[in-house]
Amino acid sequence: MHSIARPLALVLALALPAVALGTASAQNTDVIAQRQQLMKNNGKAAKAANALIKGETPFDAAAALQVFQVMNDDGKKFATLFPEDSKTGGKTEASPAIWEKPAEFKAANDKFIADTQAGIDAKPADVDAFKAAFTKVAANCQSCHQQFRAKD
Ligand code: HEC
Repeated sequence: MHSIARPLALVLALALPAVALGTASAQNTDVIAQRQQLMKNNGKAAKAANALIKGETPFDAAAALQVFQVMNDDGKKFATLFPEDSKTGGKTEASPAIWEKPAEFKAANDKFIADTQAGIDAKPADVDAFKAAFTKVAANCQSCHQQFRAKD
């Protein structure tokens, strides 16, 4: 009994990764998960920013800078994560407009990178300065989502 069951288990174990790879090539769920993780990071950083602005967290210049740095890094990686095979799957909310209007999508992403870079360069030293820079950055979230994130 055991001598038959063991080789069979081995064959199954070897077959499974092949199946998983097969799905990944049709729908690139890896890249979808990566870009969703970057956006989750943006969401966390935005929450931290709001807490600083509302005074729920005492103002801290390093924490303020960190918000812009995380978003700037995310923005630079984000634009590279939209290959043709990632239009569907993985519960993606990416709108078809990303692939239909690539120049506009790139422009929206570049603006996000530029505005977060401006926040880094401004080195905000108090809440008012941080709020001014962050308000410009936050406008990108809504504007890009309206054009390029499909509502589910
Ligand atoms: C250049 C366009 C663009 C900008 C700028 C942008 N987003 Fe997104 N965001 C998207 C797209 C596209 C998706 C859907 C990604 C997917 O599901 O494949 C998304 C998804 C999300 C999600 C859901 C992630 C998940 O799957 O759990 C959150 C949260 C989010 N964005 C927050 C933000 C915040 C906060 C900002 C601003 C600080 C921001 N985004 C800026 C395009 C953008």
